[in-house]
Amino acid sequence: MTGFRQARWAEPPIFKVGRSKRRRSRILYLDENQKMGGDDLKRLIPENLLRRDEPNLPALSEVDVVRHFTRLSQVNFGVDNGIYPLGSCTMKYSPKVNDAVANSDKVHWIHPHQDESTVQGALEIMYTLAQWLSEITGMHSFTLQPSAGAHGEYTGALIIRACHQERGDLETRREIIVPDSAHGTNLASASMAGFRVVVVPSNQKGCVDMDALESAVSERTAGLMLTNPNTLGIFEENILEISRMIHDVGGLLYYDGANLNAVMGKTRPGDMGFDIVHLNLHKTFSTPHGGGGPGAGPVGVVEALEGFLPVPTVGCDGEHFYLNYDHPQTIGRVGGFYGNFEVLVKAYTYIHSMGGDGLSRVAELSVLNANYLAHKIPEIEGFSLPYGQGIPRKHECVISCSKLKMDTGVTAKDVAKRLLDFGVHAPTMYFPPIVEEALMLEPTETESLEELDRYVDIFAQISREAYEDPTAVLEAPHNTSVGALDEVKASHPRTFCLSWRMRKKQERKP
Ligand SMILES: Cc1ncc(COP(=O)(O)O)c(C=O)c1O
Repeated sequence: MTGFRQARWAEPPIFKVGRSKRRRSRILYLDENQKMGGDDLKRLIPENLLRRDEPNLPALSEVDVVRHFTRLSQVNFGVDNGIYPLGSCTMKYSPKVNDAVANSDKVHWIHPHQDESTVQGALEIMYTLAQWLSEITGMHSFTLQPSAGAHGEYTGALIIRACHQERGDLETRREIIVPDSAHGTNLASASMAGFRVVVVPSNQKGCVDMDALESAVSERTAGLMLTNPNTLGIFEENILEISRMIHDVGGLLYYDGANLNAVMGKTRPGDMGFDIVHLNLHKTFSTPHGGGGPGAGPVGVVEALEGFLPVPTVGCDGEHFYLNYDHPQTIGRVGGFYGNFEVLVKAYTYIHSMGGDGLSRVAELSVLNANYLAHKIPEIEGFSLPYGQGIPRKHECVISCSKLKMDTGVTAKDVAKRLLDFGVHAPTMYFPPIVEEALMLEPTETESLEELDRYVDIFAQISREAYEDPTAVLEAPHNTSVGALDEVKASHPRTFCLSWRMRKKQERKP
């Protein structure tokens, strides 16, 4: 059934591809009509800023570079290759038109140090985007500065801290409540902002256990961070009650809106009583998640918290757009300049092209697709859907392979690796930790029924293989550019070498 073979290239690093000095291109394109070589540059750049030595760049012609990166792309997998239902990551197809706009010269060649009068268009994009995000979430105003979802959470947690400091009760309010179905970064962000994290468990429905919440809430509560829909893909059924309980004791409500794909255009955190929200533009709004590229985790707040936002935001006096530093209790800056501008442009273009109706249609289809998998995969021998029986999922669903493991010895990891042999991407594995042998699937709205059926068929084939003769599954993947990795070695601290200092340390050890 697979018919899939990924390319195998022994592609060296680019510095090794271009070792000889023969064909290095030294042309810098300033714009379409003007080309500048090294000597022109020397005239342009002040003497004291020029390098003495030639930089050690690989000597490559254009065709060398194109072939190198094309070969690398062939040993990789992306949304443009096939379905990528990596739960919690919203790996949906991002329309190319949004990249085209973000890559246009007018976006590409502006500089954050330019005078405001010369970047009115860019400021208008940021101003309008912040307004649209406020409308979508029911917030009053937004900062676009944070570069990731977790960065947004940290910004939000700092705002909670600053707000309590201003109220004079920070000394006693040291706790942030986080349900165990939250995204893992919520706990880390609260803790980095100096709070003690109080974890509350989920009930059998996959929602917050309200009795446990009641006993966790107190005068020590600075706030609650809620991932909604949560990591089981379930919308918190008592969300209004949760919101009331936290406000009643003087705490603030933080909404992790990274999973907005499932609810945008349908419901708004602001209407549920939340005070602070972050979004992952690199999930919901047309920048792919992952891959190491830049992201954006804008944070929205209610009117009472506007003064705490990082500076600057973008304002408009009716005629001109300007950088607004008028946030009296600001927590300061959380990133360079105004955020990752090109990601913001993609989100702007995406919202513009979809319109309000288009965004709510996205939510409908992403929920429909997740429920289709939540219904079909547990019908296959070995797989089940724990928690929240009969409760519809939102953006994603979490399947357990614990029966498969018990019956055949095949684990969630083995299933995930075998899936790769069919030219599709695996779900997220072993997350959330409250589900045994978890596979977390988020198909997104951009997958067709045919693609979903194909994915379900692959699960059925893997189940048959596991029950008949699991060898192929246990030794997978077979058809990818890289075979089964040594898991122990991959997670051994000595294998990681993340910095020069770490490398030197490792070299010193026998
Ligand atoms: C629900 C949720 N919150 C927070 C994050 C963190 O976002 P980032 O990876 O951009 O830091 C993610 C990431 O996927 C997420 O799914």
